[in-house]
Amino acid sequence: MLYVRLVHLFGMSLWIGGAVATFVVARVIAGWSIEERMRALPLLAKLHALVIAPGAIATVVSGVLITMSMVNRGMSEAMARPGIVVMQAAGILAAILVVFVGVPTANRLAVRATMTRGGEPHPVVSALRRRQAIVSSIAGVLALIALFFAVVVR
Ligand code: HEM
Repeated sequence: MLYVRLVHLFGMSLWIGGAVATFVVARVIAGWSIEERMRALPLLAKLHALVIAPGAIATVVSGVLITMSMVNRGMSEAMARPGIVVMQAAGILAAILVVFVGVPTANRLAVRATMTRGGEPHPVVSALRRRQAIVSSIAGVLALIALFFAVVVR
């Protein structure tokens, strides 16, 4: 289980680190021209697909494996601690948001990152960016709640 715990912590690092990197890139490109911002959208999609989502999946899969192993070893009571229950619930919910909304939205944004003949971004871009900002913020806060409860509350 030592290596599964390692995967749990590594996945969490990828996930939260990737989310912070994406947030910083999004803040930086907010000051760029619209054409330059459109060119950066595929980069944000890659960060979602190659760093954030694999981190979220690794965290949840390893978390479920650690839970099953501890229950099988008769440690069910330890799994009922509030810190652990909140970590599991917040982590699973955040991962669902990342994988089923965050990644597809980032991919759609990358595909739609083109300008119309009138020099405007594709009409769906602003709605997709709003959705991405809301979902990423909720998932990020849930991941930080999971970390806080895992370490501080336990
Ligand atoms: C963003 C989501 C998550 C974060 C940040 C997180 C973080 C952590 C941290 C820091 C630890 C302590 C590791 C150690 O001391 O070895 C831990 C342990 C653990 N995590 Fe998570 N986790 C998350 C999601 C999950 C999920 C979704 C599950 C299960 C479905 C889970 C199950 C566990 C279990 C069973 C332990 C061991 C608890 C113990 O030893 O008493 N985690 N997690």
